[in-house]
Amino acid sequence: MKTLITGAAGFIGARVAHMLVERGEEVVGLDNLNDYYDPRLKQSRLASLALKRAFRFVQADIADREAMEDMFRRERFTKVIHLAAQAGVRHSINHPHVYAASNLTGFLHILEGVRQTEVRQFVYASSSSVYGTSRQLPFAIDDRADTPVSLYAATKRANELMAHCYHHLFQIPATGLRFFTVYGPWGRPDMAPFRFAQAILRGETIDVYNYGRMQRDFTFIDDIAEGVVRIAERGTQGYRLFNVGASQPVGLLDFIGTLEQALGRTAKKRFLPLQPGDVVATHADVEEFWKFTGFRPTTTIETGLGKFAKWYVDYYGEGQHEHDGDRNTQVAGSAEREHIGLEQSAGQGGSPAEAVLQAS
Ligand SMILES: NC(=O)c1ccc[n+]([C@@H]2O[C@H](COP(=O)([O-])OP(=O)(O)OC[C@H]3O[C@@H](n4cnc5c(N)ncnc54)[C@H](O)[C@@H]3O)[C@@H](O)[C@H]2O)c1
Repeated sequence: MKTLITGAAGFIGARVAHMLVERGEEVVGLDNLNDYYDPRLKQSRLASLALKRAFRFVQADIADREAMEDMFRRERFTKVIHLAAQAGVRHSINHPHVYAASNLTGFLHILEGVRQTEVRQFVYASSSSVYGTSRQLPFAIDDRADTPVSLYAATKRANELMAHCYHHLFQIPATGLRFFTVYGPWGRPDMAPFRFAQAILRGETIDVYNYGRMQRDFTFIDDIAEGVVRIAERGTQGYRLFNVGASQPVGLLDFIGTLEQALGRTAKKRFLPLQPGDVVATHADVEEFWKFTGFRPTTTIETGLGKFAKWYVDYYGEGQHEHDGDRNTQVAGSAEREHIGLEQSAGQGGSPAEAVLQAS
């Protein structure tokens, strides 16, 4: 049994790799270590994995067809957990080509590898962003998902359709997981908890849209990773799609308040009206996934943000600091003021807030 995890230096991939190795599985982790955000954070995630005998790292780009063909031929994987992607909703507005290369061409190369070498399980990351402009809560798998409002979301939906096609033509068992906002230690610098923590510790002002009357479905990293590992272990036949989230929406002000407590500092907040196009709440219908895996998220937001805050301060310290290579800081514009909106969409008229809360 040999499992390939793509995006193994990433936030979710590194945690999933840890869990699989701890369960005694042989894991090959692949990543191109790109600089969308600070590659040193990716290296640090890999450092403890590198100590495990059952783990091997391959630095390669999934958009490199020859490299992927060679690797799949050589390695003969039993399972593939495909998490490598260009993530981030807002970044896709001005950097479309990297999304096409990693999320479309790269995805095709992984599908081809799975097909050519008869991999037995194929699990891949999709995203809650595929729900686009849908306003019906909670978001259910059978809801329409044909109104993406960012190229990122369009590529994730395209992945689901490509996987369906390969399942239909070549009987590949393919399972897509629509993750809802994941947070926790070793998290992504372009996402809300990280950027809120950064702003709070720097004493910078946070813009709170709709006067804080917003809700998001946050899911702790260990709960997500456990779900991914279980689905890969149990395996699915056929073509499956699942929502993967805690299904316990948290109010924005509660979220910030809990983080303030965890960091022991008070955030400077500026309350603003709802931005045009903002989505007030997201909520995942996840019954099917947790029933299928026999597992439910157990981490409360207090516990999860406590663990996150501890990691953040241990890793970066409490003082002023810069996160080199945090491209989204540049995309979002001002590094002096965090904009905290909760927009689902990322159209050209969208607010910088999207880089914060919908960068999934
Ligand atoms: N974190 C979330 O809340 C969230 C929500 C929805 C979906 N997702 C999806 O889950 C997956 C993992 O997300 P994450 O939060 O761990 O992001 P991440 O950016 O931390 O991890 C992705 C990893 O993939 C690697 N990668 C990107 N392009 C590559 C390429 N062409 N070749 C090889 N490696 C490449 C990156 O270097 C990175 O280490 C992604 O597919 C993302 O779209 C994440």
